[in-house]
Amino acid sequence: MSVTAIVGMQWGDEGKGKVVDFLVKDADVVLRYQGGSNAGHTVVLNGKKYIFHLLPSGMLYADKVCIIGDGVVVDLPLLVEEYSALKKEVKDVGDLKISELAHLVMPYHKLIDELEEGRRGSQKIGTTKRGIGPAYADKAERTGIRIGDILRPALFEEKLRRVLDRKNEIIAKIYGGTPLNFKEIRDLYLGYTDFLKDKVCNTVYLLRSLIDEGKSILLEGAQGTLLDITYGTYPYVTSSHPISGGACIGAGISPKDIDEVIGVLKAYTTRVGMGPFPTEMEDPLGSLIREKGGEFGATTGRPRRCGWLDGVMMRYSVKINGIDRIALTKLDVLSGLEKVKVCVAYKVGGKLTEEFTPFLDDVSPVYEELDGWSGDISKAKSFDELPSEAKRYIEFIEEISGCKVFFIGVGPGREEVILR
Ligand code: GDP
Ligand code: IMO
Ligand code: MG
Repeated sequence: MSVTAIVGMQWGDEGKGKVVDFLVKDADVVLRYQGGSNAGHTVVLNGKKYIFHLLPSGMLYADKVCIIGDGVVVDLPLLVEEYSALKKEVKDVGDLKISELAHLVMPYHKLIDELEEGRRGSQKIGTTKRGIGPAYADKAERTGIRIGDILRPALFEEKLRRVLDRKNEIIAKIYGGTPLNFKEIRDLYLGYTDFLKDKVCNTVYLLRSLIDEGKSILLEGAQGTLLDITYGTYPYVTSSHPISGGACIGAGISPKDIDEVIGVLKAYTTRVGMGPFPTEMEDPLGSLIREKGGEFGATTGRPRRCGWLDGVMMRYSVKINGIDRIALTKLDVLSGLEKVKVCVAYKVGGKLTEEFTPFLDDVSPVYEELDGWSGDISKAKSFDELPSEAKRYIEFIEEISGCKVFFIGVGPGREEVILR
């Protein structure tokens, strides 16, 4: 039995979906602990792509319990759509449970996310417009509505009426937008009680009993460490805690319950949306990696910005999350380059430092250059089958991170993995 947290070590899209899908075959439970439908976690099975936004990435296994934890913000219409589409595609899916404490992303959150991004103009964050920031803001402001409220219709109606009056005022008076209709939202949401009734529960007790029964639990993070609202590149971050500490507050467990933290690291760096990015390649090489790696958002389709691996950021991630082992993804994408670079230090105001700072604007990267490798490595089944330069790249990551790379992704498919 074990409880393992799986976290993104960069700016999201590291390949968490693939890693969770791979590890879950030996586990019993997957719990998503934060974020919402801003996430897009891809699993490729027999050449078919499944993208999970709200559902945990263990849903392709019928014998797993999949929990949407307390810290997630749930866009309920989207969840129902995602669940129904998956059930149509795959008859037997995981056993879905949803925390009664999870907050709802309501239609006004999505509208305000979009309107506020418009208002920010050139200062926009580049959000996914999924209502994530406004939903977490309401949670903090104590005006949020929770999944459990829907199962208490009178309470739900009262809360919705109160909050919608205020939101409509903001929508109309501040943004000049069109107010939303109370009855439409009420009827839509109360219409989901049938879907919810056998899935919603107190997941704190559920998880506790699964841990006590000796089950193996995966805590699936969304986004990545540098998108954390406190530790990331604020304000160009998401509004939750993707870090391993976030797993405790998003699952209702103690830090002492977590046995291991696995960091998912892409062999290079990508970022969607605005914000600083010291190792970004704004040149043909960046475009080549984008094309080769299929670096287009799984949620919004936006092209992802691409750059070299940032070792300074990686070490910061190791420390913040307490990473024990690294799952390295997309090594295959770097094949065919004559040289590969890794940022090993930053120059800040003329001074060299190996310490990360989220104040990245006046930082320039200092690189170590390694030999590249060529050929298709996607069929490699063992570390020894990799070209010596690729092995050196992995060993270099281990040296500067202080962590073992135990999983090497060499293609998007479930089987395209080398384990060490
Ligand atoms: P997540 O949000 O962290 O789950 O990552 P995404 O699913 O948004 O993006 C990762 C993309 O890379 C997806 O298209 C995956 O299918 C793909 N992928 C994952 N691991 C590998 C790998 O090792 N090699 C290649 N070529 N693609 C991978
Ligand atoms: P997964 O789980 C990559 C980014 C957005 C934007 C910022 C804030 O697939 O790795 P938000 O909508 O959360 O308010 O947007 O965060 N972002 C992600 N980038 N992967 C994600 O999720 C992301 N979720 C949000 O692009 O820059
Ligand atoms: Mg993603």
